[in-house]
This record gives sequence, structure tokens and C-alpha cells, in this order.
Amino acid sequence: MLNVRCSMARPTVNRQNSALPPSGRLADRIVLITGGSRGIGLAIARACGGEGARVVLVARHRRALAQARAQISGEPLAVAADVTRPEQVAAVFRRVRQRYGRLDVLVNNAGVFTYKPFMRTTLADWRANLETNLTSIFFTTREALPLFARSRAPHLINILSVASREAFPNCAAYAASKFGALGLTRVLAAELRSKGIRVTAILPGSTDTRMIAAFGFPVDRSSLLQPDDVAQAVLAALVPPPRVTVEEIVLGPSKGAL
Ligand SMILES: NC(=O)c1ccc[n+]([C@@H]2O[C@H](COP(=O)([O-])OP(=O)(O)OC[C@H]3O[C@@H](n4cnc5c(N)ncnc54)[C@H](OP(=O)(O)O)[C@@H]3O)[C@@H](O)[C@H]2O)c1
Repeated sequence: MLNVRCSMARPTVNRQNSALPPSGRLADRIVLITGGSRGIGLAIARACGGEGARVVLVARHRRALAQARAQISGEPLAVAADVTRPEQVAAVFRRVRQRYGRLDVLVNNAGVFTYKPFMRTTLADWRANLETNLTSIFFTTREALPLFARSRAPHLINILSVASREAFPNCAAYAASKFGALGLTRVLAAELRSKGIRVTAILPGSTDTRMIAAFGFPVDRSSLLQPDDVAQAVLAALVPPPRVTVEEIVLGPSKGAL
């Protein structure tokens, strides 16, 4: 297990200064985050915005997106879309191309989690996990590549899970999607290296977000990772110069998995 340590000033939203040129370790990088309206995605968006990035948020529910947008520096773009729908994904990337002309970082973070014994896992559960956690990466990454071609430091970051490489009971649909997503990420890393596109997999353990409610049993939230911990791992991958690729980061609660 790799402990990620990097210090970061807590981001502050300063709308009065939003017209000033951004400063920070990600100044002016265009960063699109799926599932950016809450939980880990929102923490990543806040961290990137706090470092001067131009953030694009994607999630389905408009009200949550608007609330998230208000917490992020630098006039983020928020686009309501379902990442399981290819035509909606294409529309998101058209907006990015119109507004910025390029994309520097895609963070595939949107996800769902089903916690059920295999025999109680429905076809709808199965499809929701596979389509949201795996197939969406196929859709978004295909749309991102032409915009990456216009970037000086293109970077693909996939938020996976410790369940991408370790089997936990009652997680059949989730594990199938996340194992698949790790395989896809590794293929992309090998294939896109020659194009100068960095690819990073982040594999968090249990994190204190709404997703944890799926367990259906009481959880000591104080023992879990916090969304900001995962966001700092993302910064640790993004900040090094283009000659450095952080390939995979595994981070888990120090007290162990749930
Ligand atoms: N929490 C954990 O313990 C944990 C551990 C390891 C890995 N992860 C991974 O971390 C990522 C984020 O999870 P989280 O814990 O932050 O979950 P969360 O709090 O439930 O947030 C999920 C985000 O994904 C969005 N989303 C879900 N389905 C979507 C769809 N079809 N289209 C667009 N957006 C969609 C949600 O917004 P809308 O509902 O509005 O669309 C929300 O913004 C996931 O990939 C998850 O598998 C989580």
C-alpha cells in the first residue's frame, strides 16, 4: 500500500478574484471530472480548482451540480449528463471544445455501488454497475482523445477501487465493473503512452461518502478515508512534470478495509 502524502492549502472560493489569471500548480489546466457533484468527485474538483485549474463538472442532477459549482474556484462549467448515454457524453465534450478548445485532464470518477449477495443481484444492478463504472469510461475516453491531441500535457485519471484487484463478498457487479475498469486502464496506459498521454489509476479503499450507505449496516465513518484524501492522491499524480507518470495509487484506511 502506498501512502500518499502531499500538502495542499485548503481551497477557498474567491469569486471576486475569479477574473484574475489563475495561479497554482494546475494553473489554466482544463480538468473534466465525471461525478463531480458530490463525494470524491467534488473533493477532486475543489482541489483542482484551488490549484488554478479550469474545472468542468459532470453529473446527472442539476441542483447538486449547482451546489457543487458554488464551492469551486474559477467559474467552473457544470454540465448535466448521464455518462452511460453516449449521445449525452458527446454533448458534454462538444461544450468543452466550444468553451476551451482542448482538454488537459479527464477524471473518470462517476460510479455506483451495489452491495448484495450474488443471487440477489438483479440484472438492473448488474447493468447499472457495468454501464456506470466501466462502459462510461469507454464513452468519455473516446470523446476526450481528440481534445487531448490539442493539450501540452494530456492526462487520463480513472478512479477505481481496491475492489479492482481484491475480491470482497457481496460485491459481484461492482467488482466485475472495477476489475474491468482496471484492465481497461492498463491497456489505455500501454496504448496511449506513445501519444504522450499519461494514464493513472487511483484505487481507494472505503471512503466516507454517500456511497457507503449501500452497505446497509452501521459503519464507523471516522475510520474511513475522507474524500479529500483521495483528492490529494489525484493531485500527487497531476502535479509532477510530463516526464513522470504516476501509474497506480492504492490508498486505504489505516485500520483496514470494511
Ligand atoms: N466511497 C467509497 O468507499 C469508494 C471507494 C473506492 C472507490 N470509490 C469510487 O469513487 C468514485 C466516486 O464515488 P463516491 O464515493 O464519491 O460516490 P457518490 O458520493 O455516490 O458520488 C457519485 C457521483 O457520481 C455521479 N454519477 C453516478 N451515476 C452517474 C451517471 N450515470 N452519470 C453521471 N454521473 C453519475 C453522481 O451524481 P448524480 O447521481 O447526480 O449523477 C455523483 O456525483 C466511484 O467511481 C466509486 O466507485 C468509492
